[in-house]
Amino acid sequence: MPVINRIAEFHAEMTKWRRDIHAHPETAFEENRTADLVAAKLQSFGIEVHRGLAKTGVVGTLKGAKPGPKTIGLRADMDALHIHEKNRFDHRSQNDGKMHACGHDGHTTMLLGAAKYLAETRNFTGTVHFIFQPAEENQAGGRVMVEEGLFDQFPVDFVFGMHNMPGMPLGTIGMRAGPIMAAADNFELTIRGRGTHAAMPHLGIDPVQAAAQIIIGFQTIASRITDPLESVVVSVTQVMAGDTWNVLPEEVTLRGTTRALTPEIHATIQPLMKRIADGIAAANGCTADLQPRIGYPATVNTANEVKLAAAAAEKVVGAARVDTDVVPLMGAEDFAFMLKKRPGAYVWLGNGPGEGGCLLHNPSYDFNDEILPIGASYWASLVETTLAK
Ligand code: NI
Repeated sequence: MPVINRIAEFHAEMTKWRRDIHAHPETAFEENRTADLVAAKLQSFGIEVHRGLAKTGVVGTLKGAKPGPKTIGLRADMDALHIHEKNRFDHRSQNDGKMHACGHDGHTTMLLGAAKYLAETRNFTGTVHFIFQPAEENQAGGRVMVEEGLFDQFPVDFVFGMHNMPGMPLGTIGMRAGPIMAAADNFELTIRGRGTHAAMPHLGIDPVQAAAQIIIGFQTIASRITDPLESVVVSVTQVMAGDTWNVLPEEVTLRGTTRALTPEIHATIQPLMKRIADGIAAANGCTADLQPRIGYPATVNTANEVKLAAAAAEKVVGAARVDTDVVPLMGAEDFAFMLKKRPGAYVWLGNGPGEGGCLLHNPSYDFNDEILPIGASYWASLVETTLAK
């Protein structure tokens, strides 16, 4: 694997950092130890450090050997998940109930590795901002950083992100222009009827069977209403009603999540859900109250920056191992908020086989240390190619 030789030399050191972060997972906006570690490492490389954006965010700023107007942002996420780790290896989580099950320990380490190399070599013209963000999982730390002025304080011409991908062969890098991850929103729907004895349903209004029809009705959004060639998901994941066998309850609460790849389809989902819920509820004499919880927008790569990312990736892993037309995922990613503000590209780095419990968010997951120098070399290559004189 033609990783950058100098980066390969500190593979063992990066592995130590990665396992240390893995052993001390911290969740949304509490990444204090991790942020301290990141800041200390950046400072030890001679990189200027800024802290405090989105509570635990860290930004390192490095100028190339030659001054230039171009500025690039490289982003890694630092947070862990609320999962009980099942692994028994030495670097398993020491924080019970928290775990780096999405590989953000590896993402942080790869960006640190690239920072170390780039600070040594500074073989570029312009400025790099190394963006270490908190709370990627569920709490949109990326959005908070942007709202708190990330790109005002650290203006960038383009911004790049990377995520490891179990199931993609080790040493491969995948990307695509356009949406690569979905927009994700949650919802809560309350269907109200009138409670009664379950043996005398005609004396009340049953919200349970109305809810059942609405759950099925929602599936027509994907199967009957949206163009079959477009991607949309409506999943009801929680159904809450009633206290006992022989009473029809007053109300039913449904919760779930919706996904779409394009802004056009995304914009149709909530109005369609409301139409279906209101219509079916009314037909049954019930009322429906839909409360959307807006989540993450789609992660949309810009075509030019995908080309830049692909060129940098090819230098590291070879053209045969770079896929520029991956099939998008309906999962979501809060790097989307940065891509809404600046052009850029989010790529996947093959983590090796996904079987045997090594899937993301699985209690047996572990980031593959073999890819640390590959990811770090990609970052370095991206800076050296996009900020070449
Ligand atoms: Ni993740």
